[in-house]
Amino acid sequence: LTSRIVVDRDFVISELDRRVFGTFVEHMGRCVYGGIYEPGHATANKDGFRQDVLELTRELGPTIVRYPGGNFLSGYNWEDGVGPKDKRPTRLDLAWGSTETNEFGTNEFITWCRTAKVEPMFAVNLGTRGPDEARHLLEYCNHPGGTYYSDLRREHGYEKPHGIKFWCLGNEMDGPWQICQKTAREYGRVAKETAKVMRWVDGDLQLAACGSSQRAMPTYASWEYEVLDHCFNDVDFISLHAYFRNDSNDVKEFFTVIEDLDSFIKEVASIADAVAAKRRSPKRIMLSLDEWNVWYKAHSPSDLRKPGWPKAPPLIEEIYNFEDALVVGGALITMINNADRVKAACIAQLVNVIGPIMTETGGAAWRQTIFHPFAQASRHAHGQVLRTKVQSETFSTKTHPNASLLLSSVIHDEATGTVTILALNRSTTDEMQLDVELRGLGEGRKVALASELHHADLKAINSKAAPNAVAPKERTDVSIDKGVVSAKLKPLSWNVIVTT
Ligand code: AHR
Repeated sequence: LTSRIVVDRDFVISELDRRVFGTFVEHMGRCVYGGIYEPGHATANKDGFRQDVLELTRELGPTIVRYPGGNFLSGYNWEDGVGPKDKRPTRLDLAWGSTETNEFGTNEFITWCRTAKVEPMFAVNLGTRGPDEARHLLEYCNHPGGTYYSDLRREHGYEKPHGIKFWCLGNEMDGPWQICQKTAREYGRVAKETAKVMRWVDGDLQLAACGSSQRAMPTYASWEYEVLDHCFNDVDFISLHAYFRNDSNDVKEFFTVIEDLDSFIKEVASIADAVAAKRRSPKRIMLSLDEWNVWYKAHSPSDLRKPGWPKAPPLIEEIYNFEDALVVGGALITMINNADRVKAACIAQLVNVIGPIMTETGGAAWRQTIFHPFAQASRHAHGQVLRTKVQSETFSTKTHPNASLLLSSVIHDEATGTVTILALNRSTTDEMQLDVELRGLGEGRKVALASELHHADLKAINSKAAPNAVAPKERTDVSIDKGVVSAKLKPLSWNVIVTT
């Protein structure tokens, strides 16, 4: 197999918004309790944060973290999670059939974000609640002082405002599983009014309306159109959620979820632009893919809730394998190549619950397979995404007759001169000779780093006993000559090449 990519310094898709490397912490299962927060754990700091998880989070490299849900959000009273811990009520969480102690809430999450050096992305409950509670939460978080809620925050020990800029208006409001599901009209109206009053509290916000909770929803597309028709002037983003499945247990078919993601992104952008066209508006609504990941193994009713209203039970603890990591790598490439519209994205979730990080409560923490492509892309993809002209052979599946064997992104950091190539060889059998012609990107370039993620077994996993079974390996056989990078890519491999 031979593949060729040509890029030119001047042919830029867009600056990459680093918020595409976001993640998500929901009050669900062991994501908060036993995940990021576990007072009494051997590594816990004074705030009860697991430092082993903090270290892995830093290595993973998320830029922004969505909180507190998810489906949990639509029944959440934010007031339950602030103030003295012994006064906080214990509640039934109807979303996941669990008991929520509220030991961890808004201020603990902000402290965790500051410790992890990530930006918070907050969400307001538009299920059981509405604009009134949203404006109060925003006043609590962002108003400097001298009002009821801002002074309450100060009384709770947080003198300075939290300054949270990115807010999601509800979660998956189209889904029948959502607490207080809404029609597009009901949601569009409440999203508009919530956005309006929130901007009156704080004029410097970025607001995301809920799009469809998956592309397969019966109301998909008409939902986006109608919701945006109501709140187009009031929001900056529309959200997309995408969970990838491998139901046919066929890696080629599984790979094409990446093509579906590309279509999903382009369709939602087109719908948002149709709403703009109706208004003759130059405004462009951006996309927030604020939940995405592989998720299909831990999906039975018993994965979603356990009987007896347990506290922080293990829920949807998907064990990721090597092929899942390849799909995550491919999805990242697709998001990056749509950098002109995808300005935020959150791999869901961070830890234990469909997470790149796995822990034992009271025990160890380790990296799942999907940790690696995410961490590498986040570390190396900075700057301008270049338009790629790709020549590659194709493969076909039942649903996709003409998919490129090579998936790739090329990102140029003007500040440092670094050019990073991300490349996924989707051939199941053949090594690929890849040549990348870097036009206008200077003479004398060197390969600063080359690495490959490959395993002979698509089903290989990482575990506490073998935490590094699937991990990238550095390689020294990638060359560059007269601006052309040459590498041999193993079949079924995710590759990162950094040139300076
Ligand atoms: O991430 C798990 C769940 O998936 C979230 O709570 C919900 O928004 C989505 O359906």
